[in-house]
Amino acid sequence: MSTCTRVAIIGAGPAGLLLSHLLDRQGIESIVIDSRGREEIETTIRAGILEQGTVEVLTDTGASHRVRSAGQMHEGIELRFDGESHRIDFTATVGRAVWLYPQHEVLKDLVAARLAAGQDLRFHVTAERVEDAETDRPKVIATDFDGNRVIIEAEIVVGADGSRSVAREAVTGTYGGYFREYPFAWFGILCEAPPSAEELIYSNTPDGFALISQRSPEVQRMYFQCDPDTDTEAYSDAQLWDILRSRVPGRTLKEGPISKRDVLRFRSFVAHEMRRGRVVIVGDAAHTVPPTGAKGMNLAVADVVLLSEALGAFLLQADESLFNAFPETARKRIWKAQHFSWWMTNMLHVQPGADDFDRMRQIGELRTVVESESGRAYLAEAYTGWPLNGMEHNVRQ
Ligand code: DHB
Repeated sequence: MSTCTRVAIIGAGPAGLLLSHLLDRQGIESIVIDSRGREEIETTIRAGILEQGTVEVLTDTGASHRVRSAGQMHEGIELRFDGESHRIDFTATVGRAVWLYPQHEVLKDLVAARLAAGQDLRFHVTAERVEDAETDRPKVIATDFDGNRVIIEAEIVVGADGSRSVAREAVTGTYGGYFREYPFAWFGILCEAPPSAEELIYSNTPDGFALISQRSPEVQRMYFQCDPDTDTEAYSDAQLWDILRSRVPGRTLKEGPISKRDVLRFRSFVAHEMRRGRVVIVGDAAHTVPPTGAKGMNLAVADVVLLSEALGAFLLQADESLFNAFPETARKRIWKAQHFSWWMTNMLHVQPGADDFDRMRQIGELRTVVESESGRAYLAEAYTGWPLNGMEHNVRQ
């Protein structure tokens, strides 16, 4: 079956759904497809921290009304190292904050909003490839749940299809991108317990890093640094609590039944190209960051805010300038976020084989940040997020 639309969007994650929402506000029709079903999309556990700009986009454009009511504003984080605790006060240093609101809740809000608006949103439709990028009518070749061929012809195709993007090949060819792998991963758990602290705790110890995060008053998310090949069943619950306790010395963790375990690998990736002709890739399809600092979804939102403005000018006014500038404009923020995620990761984790020099230097680096007003402001500014290009337009609508 062949269908035509203005913008074909592959991927119903935060990037794809938000893009369809921002386009709709400008009167631009789109079709969104995803290989997954609605339930899988709405229940997969991902990160939980939204930058202030992300929250403003979601609320000011009507994409989510629950972020501010169900989410929690966090005005700082706790950094622990060398037996000490230091608070980075975001509001005091940069006058901004972040919100704890899990990504799957954002997705529930976006799916509901899109369906209520009559969006053509198709689950269980798997894109196989994108063709004709350098013509006026690029196409998505896909297969539906029953194995039928689906062809979507559009003016623009957007690959918002995650790190295993099928759209990426149509954009980057065989060139790939810039890549960095890290010698560690996070062992993540979800547990039923009250929060151990009001704010998130980022803790560095000689044995490795731990992050005490939250999901709700009843459910908590915690991570500790582990070897990338660690099996999720390698530890009993009691062993997991022993490790977590030892990684956050001086703090009593509230413990409870562990309901989920996973191992998250660390990678940095930036595709060499984000656009070829009329095909664009955004979010994880175009870049991946290691999780420390929770930039992944926020960066996807920043891409999409910028792209929706560029597509508005292109499709409604035949003004190509923003669309032509899009990859270069997006790339500037992407590399700032890459740097921040790399920096937080390396500052807080222990490299395999680290010696006493490495250890002392790392403590020196952490002190440089927490003992200086500008050091704290540097971290706070990046963590809460830089201003969003293109946001002015989206709010004005
Ligand atoms: C979470 C993940 C992060 O990478 C981070 O820096 C903070 C919180 C989370 O999953 O809650």
